[in-house]
Amino acid sequence: MTQFDIPSDPTARRLPGIFIALEGGDGAGKSTQSEALAAHVQARGFEAVRTREPGGTEISEKLRALVLEHGHGEIDARTEALIFAAARAAHVEQLVLPALAEGRVVITDRYVDSSIAYQGVGRELGVAPVTLINDFATAGLRPDLTVLLDVPLEVAKARRRSLHSADDRLEAEADSFHENIREAFLRIAESHPASYVVIDAGKTPEEISAVIARRVDELLNSRERV
Ligand SMILES: Nc1ncnc2c1ncn2[C@@H]1O[C@H](COP(=O)(O)OP(=O)(O)O)[C@@H](O)[C@H]1O
Ligand SMILES: [Mg+2]
Repeated sequence: MTQFDIPSDPTARRLPGIFIALEGGDGAGKSTQSEALAAHVQARGFEAVRTREPGGTEISEKLRALVLEHGHGEIDARTEALIFAAARAAHVEQLVLPALAEGRVVITDRYVDSSIAYQGVGRELGVAPVTLINDFATAGLRPDLTVLLDVPLEVAKARRRSLHSADDRLEAEADSFHENIREAFLRIAESHPASYVVIDAGKTPEEISAVIARRVDELLNSRERV
């Protein structure tokens, strides 16, 4: 071991809280399920914290506006990846870790997998370098559970249209880009089956919430026993 070998996972496993990430394309139903899951967690007697990426802190919300809104000039892929990672670093340091330290259940709408899918695969920066900068940004903090909401592109698009919101910089990308993202999310989930639940997000919101609640209950029950 040299001074340049940094041990991974410095703090995560010792924290009493539970960290849950919702992943999937825009319009998959992440915000909808975040709200439902928070209600379920509270009903079980735990404190839930709902948050999102990029965002969750003052600086992270400013970085979100920079990277997602149109009108900031050209943002090349590496710059984009680093802005997302910087926003994530502040989010983890200022919001996620303190909440986990207090034993809360943190539910984030997007986390590292979104960067691996969008920047690593979609922008073709590669999975390894994007994982590396995000390990640095998060100090190795991984979710206890990641919920992947998987939905065909057309369904997600129709749902987005129903919200009447203008597409942001990433939403405005071509269909092929979004197909690659969808595939990437599925591949990531396949490679870590123990900490993922993949859900057909074409089901009704209630059906999806029930699947998520069952899986999260396993985590809550294990916490109650300690
Ligand atoms: N399972 C579902 N079936 C049908 N419509 C849904 C479902 N989940 C969410 N929606 C609707 O689709 C739109 C996008 O959902 P949202 O939760 O905002 O997705 P995301 O946060 O992943 O972009 C919203 O209008 C929402 O009400
Ligand atoms: Mg949303």
